[in-house]
Formats: sequence, C-alpha cells, structure tokens
Amino acid sequence: RKRVRVHHLRQMKERGEVWPMLTAYDMYVAKIFDDAGIPVMLVGDSASNNVFGYETSLPVTVEELLPLVRAVTRATSRALIIADLPFGSYQASPEQALAASVRFMKEGRAHAVKLEGGRHYAEHVEALVAAGIPVVGHLGFTPQSEHMLGGYRVQGRGDSGEEILADALALERAGACAVVLEMVPASVAKRVTAEVRMPTIGIGAGPDCDAQVLVWQDMAGLRTGSLPRFVKQYAGLAETLSDATRRFAEDVRAGTFPGPEHCFE
Ligand code: KIV
Ligand code: NA
Repeated sequence: RKRVRVHHLRQMKERGEVWPMLTAYDMYVAKIFDDAGIPVMLVGDSASNNVFGYETSLPVTVEELLPLVRAVTRATSRALIIADLPFGSYQASPEQALAASVRFMKEGRAHAVKLEGGRHYAEHVEALVAAGIPVVGHLGFTPQSEHMLGGYRVQGRGDSGEEILADALALERAGACAVVLEMVPASVAKRVTAEVRMPTIGIGAGPDCDAQVLVWQDMAGLRTGSLPRFVKQYAGLAETLSDATRRFAEDVRAGTFPGPEHCFE
C-alpha cells in the first residue's frame, strides 16, 4: 500500500470525499488507525496534555515530540503524518520555523508540519514551502494562544468570521496544503471551505469541512470527565482498561494468576 500524499487531499476535496483524521502519538495506536483506513494522522502538540500530563499545550517541546513523530511514522505504511510545531519553535521567524520543521521532516520522518496562525505567518509558510515542506495551517481557536484568547472559546463569531476567511486565503496564497478550523461557527467553516481550494479540517467547526479531526483519546473515551461539546465518544477505553487492571490486580492478590498455562517447567 502506498502513502497518502498531499495532492491526494486536494483530489479528495475536488471529488467531494470527506475524510477522517485522528491524532496519534505511539506505535500500537497509529498502526490500528492506519489499518482502519485513517488517511491522515497528526502528532499534535496536544501530546502536551494528552501524553505528557502538562496542563496546556504550551510546555511541550520539539525534543519531546520528535520521538513520538518517529514512532507514528514508523508504525504506519499508508497514512500521511503531520507533525505539529510546538509553541515557541516557529513564532520568532521564518528561519526558526524552517529549523524546527527540518528536524520534524528529517529526524521525525514526518510528511508535513502544522503551525497555528494566519496572515502573520504567511512568510513562515512560504519559507517552508520553498524548502519542500508541506504546511497545514490552524485557525479559529488556537490552543497555543489560549492566554491571549481568554480560554477555550469559539472564535470567528460575528464580524470576526471575515478575519478567519482572510487568514485562510492568506495561508492558501502562501502555499499551505490544508487548514484546521477549530471551534468556529459552522457557517464560517462552510464559507471558508467553499472559498479555498485547499481542504479544511474541522474540529468543532460543523459538518461542512472537507475533513474532521479529533484527539484520539477523546474519540475513544480514554479521557474522561468533562469533554468539549465537539467530541463524540466511540468507545469507553478508560473503563475497559480500568476493569482489566482491577481484574489483574485481584488475580495476583488471590494467587490465581499466573496459572499453570503461563508457567515454564
Ligand atoms: O494538537 C492537536 O491535537 C491539534 C488538533 C486538535 C487539530 O492541533
Ligand atoms: Na495542535
């Protein structure tokens, strides 16, 4: 089986074929998603909260994300793997963005990178594209700016919907191959999707995007507690794993594991 390439994403949009995308951070999970036909995976800086246990997406570093990217790329044979540029690794200049992206492409073996921001990052996107690195943008609620945005809030309501469209068009002009739209009104996402040729990838952005992405632990119910409105849970992994763990612990305490079939003579 051949890898999905960025031009395939544009072809799917042209055919009106909506595609699913998930985050992935490790080998077993990435392989399951690859075998299930998920064509695009993101090694998100959401690893910050969902793997490393930080409170926000800000602390995670290139050094922490690189081995995850490498694991996901190695474990998959078909999906296109996007590496997320973490906070502080690209904002300073196009040169800084290029240096971080080269590491993800070279050491991580990623197939594309993603960064947050619109027209202010057009030069960053251009520099990466000139170096042969496909770039995915990210607009609307951008978690790396949560302190500026005042928390997890819908972006692009009212007149600011036009700003999101202008940012998407600027990213497209700069050569971006796709754009994530996070927590924006469905009507704004629909309009952006109609006005750009690159695919839009929605998360809390309504049904009219060209693709839909979720953090995999949210999709599979490994994360519990209060979840964002845009999450749909398709499994209850936290409960399944908790039950298995309790039964293992009980067996060990009762002396019923290991049994003869688990032992060597
Ligand atoms: O880091 C991440 O998981 C993301 C997606 C939710 C788009 O940026
Ligand atoms: Na992210």
